[in-house]
Amino acid sequence: MVEDNLIEKLQQRFERSLKACPFTGEPEGLYAPIDYVLSVGGKRVRPVLCLLACRLYGGDESVALKAAMGLEVFHNFTLLHDDIMDRAETRRGQETVHVKWNDNTAILSGDAMLIKAYQLMASVPEASSARVNEIFSKTALEVCEGQQYDMDFEGREQVSTDEYLKMIKLKTAVLLAASLQIGALLGGADSFNQDKLYDFGIQLGLAFQLRDDLLDAFGDPGLFGKKIGGDILCGKRSYLRIMAEQLADEATKAELDEAFSMPASKGAQKIRRVLDIYKRLDIQKVTEEAIEKRFEQSISLLDSLDLDPEQKDVLTTLAHDLMGRQR
Ligand code: IPE
Ligand code: IPE
Ligand code: MG
Ligand code: MG
Ligand code: MG
Repeated sequence: MVEDNLIEKLQQRFERSLKACPFTGEPEGLYAPIDYVLSVGGKRVRPVLCLLACRLYGGDESVALKAAMGLEVFHNFTLLHDDIMDRAETRRGQETVHVKWNDNTAILSGDAMLIKAYQLMASVPEASSARVNEIFSKTALEVCEGQQYDMDFEGREQVSTDEYLKMIKLKTAVLLAASLQIGALLGGADSFNQDKLYDFGIQLGLAFQLRDDLLDAFGDPGLFGKKIGGDILCGKRSYLRIMAEQLADEATKAELDEAFSMPASKGAQKIRRVLDIYKRLDIQKVTEEAIEKRFEQSISLLDSLDLDPEQKDVLTTLAHDLMGRQR
């Protein structure tokens, strides 16, 4: 039996434990930004995936709370550094750490968070500790690889869809997948189920990043919490741009290149011009189809899991809600 509103309950449980373990201390310049970023909200997707997987395989979620916290702290660390790299000024509707403080603060508080994340991951029960550390370290390194590809692609002439998918698998999907895998492991799932859940998480994560790319261009500014057009401003090879490059005729492609080469000083105009081309090429629809495809693939992977239909429904609902998210 799955209890009602399980996802919300796990989310609340996670928020309570995060509050009970404040990241404060001296020097304040190091810890205040950590406390700030962790308390300004966020969807808590990764910890919820971890706690949920643990529960679905019969574990009490308290076994996975420290790992869930480690995953969220790690995720937030990547955001501190990502926002410097992406020159992003707003996140979760608030100033980013490097804007509120400065770049050096965001770098060092981020470093401290990575260490905190490792400490938290190391506090899982002894019997699972080596394997959790192995999965976590592999994942953390992959995220760095993905982030490097993401930067490399900004300056490339052309990026293929496959290259893009590999990049977002590394920068985003592996962490969602590992959250599920670690939760399942701590809950007592066998390695077959852990691995299948990981594969489910990869498809979910691909869809999640595609949705992020879509919202970055067409989201509701009040809900999204990040600047609309941020990817356009820093010349990201988002899925939208890659598809536009592929679908445009020669004249439109030239127009697109010209729009992307506009200077930052003409930011608003640059965003308007690129969005106008995206609209003409129906890129929103193309991206929604790509999201739907990964969603379907993720759901089909649930078939082989040793879970009863009611439990699979929880994962389906979660995936479905993430696909339709506005923030
Ligand atoms: C943002 O992650 C970075 C991406 C991988 C797209 P989230 O969308 O999970 O951000 P928060 O934690 O909810 O703010
Ligand atoms: C996020 O990619 C990936 C990581 C933070 C590792 P984005 O750069 O698209 O994330 P947002 O849009 O800034 O949240
Ligand atoms: Mg980025
Ligand atoms: Mg970013
Ligand atoms: Mg983004």
